Amino acid sequence: MNKILFGKTKTGAEVYKYSIENSKGMKAVIMDFGATIVDLYVPDKDGNFRDVCLGYDDVTAYEKETTYFGAIVGPYANRISDAKIEIDGIEYQLDTNDNENNLHSGYNSMAKNVWTVKEHTHNKIVFSYKNPHLAQGFPGNMTVDVAYEINEVNQLSIAYHGVSDQKTTFNMTNHTYFNLNGWDSGSVYGHELMVKASGYTPVKSPKAIPTGEVASVEGTPFDFRVAKPIGRDIDEDYEQLIFGQGYDHNFALDKEADGVEKIAEVYAPESGIVMDVETDCIGIQLYTGNFMEGQIGKKGHLHHRREGFCLETQYYPNSINEPNFVCPITEAGEAYETVTIYGFRVK
Ligand code: GLA
Repeated sequence: MNKILFGKTKTGAEVYKYSIENSKGMKAVIMDFGATIVDLYVPDKDGNFRDVCLGYDDVTAYEKETTYFGAIVGPYANRISDAKIEIDGIEYQLDTNDNENNLHSGYNSMAKNVWTVKEHTHNKIVFSYKNPHLAQGFPGNMTVDVAYEINEVNQLSIAYHGVSDQKTTFNMTNHTYFNLNGWDSGSVYGHELMVKASGYTPVKSPKAIPTGEVASVEGTPFDFRVAKPIGRDIDEDYEQLIFGQGYDHNFALDKEADGVEKIAEVYAPESGIVMDVETDCIGIQLYTGNFMEGQIGKKGHLHHRREGFCLETQYYPNSINEPNFVCPITEAGEAYETVTIYGFRVK
């Protein structure tokens, strides 16, 4: 149940790291800045613990970089076209931080601020954040709670709860970059990925706003229905991969029902670590760290592109503006709730 001072933000706010763990030794270190996962120790096939998430050694890097390593992204993850949304005929201008678009809710969103700790036990921590009306342009005084919990079967669950005093939009995610061989072990090309999705949402251009179509993955580099190495097709001469400089796309999940179910699996042959992803979300963004280059990570490690992958569960990108997609709207006082579970085992 420990809590240690990690550093200070540029405005002098203290940032603390907290750990949660189970009796098997699986452990997560999570900080209150962005409710961010900093370290995640899971056992490999020899029983040795590896830290499988990318991170930085100081708060300054987390503040400065735009990689979103480990952060909770909200209220709205991914892109919103022209940084504008319309709710009940009222247009809201959001912060622009990705050309003319809004990405991950803007530069000063909850991923870049200190959260409050509501509860902390040996295996669970609950962070809370208040996003005032019109912060980054989003309507409503929002209160968001994110609960991280590790159980005895090596699953880390992330439960999101949001509520606002006005009709608004919530579409939250966690932006951890995983490398199941350990954060310092190079590219993730050899990781074998399965995603239960027969469709994905192609984008219009390198700015990555979806066209609105759900395209079939059949016969494309986006077909992960049968596991294949992430690196197998990543550099194919395929327009969507050229736009994203690799995978940076949302998959339309083949969900059986509305509840939480397994929709992805990743296996790293070298460590033997398998990660199972379960969620109640309808979409998942696969991002292969294409734009990461030159960041100084943990212990001074110089990161290169594609040394981590993100599987960000969410509504489809720009779904608030795209009539073909399920639109995430939450009424005043209504709870937004979603759960994603990252489970670890070996084979
Ligand atoms: C997301 C986006 C990427 C990139 C990263 C952060 O996953 O889809 O394009 O912006 O966040 O660097």
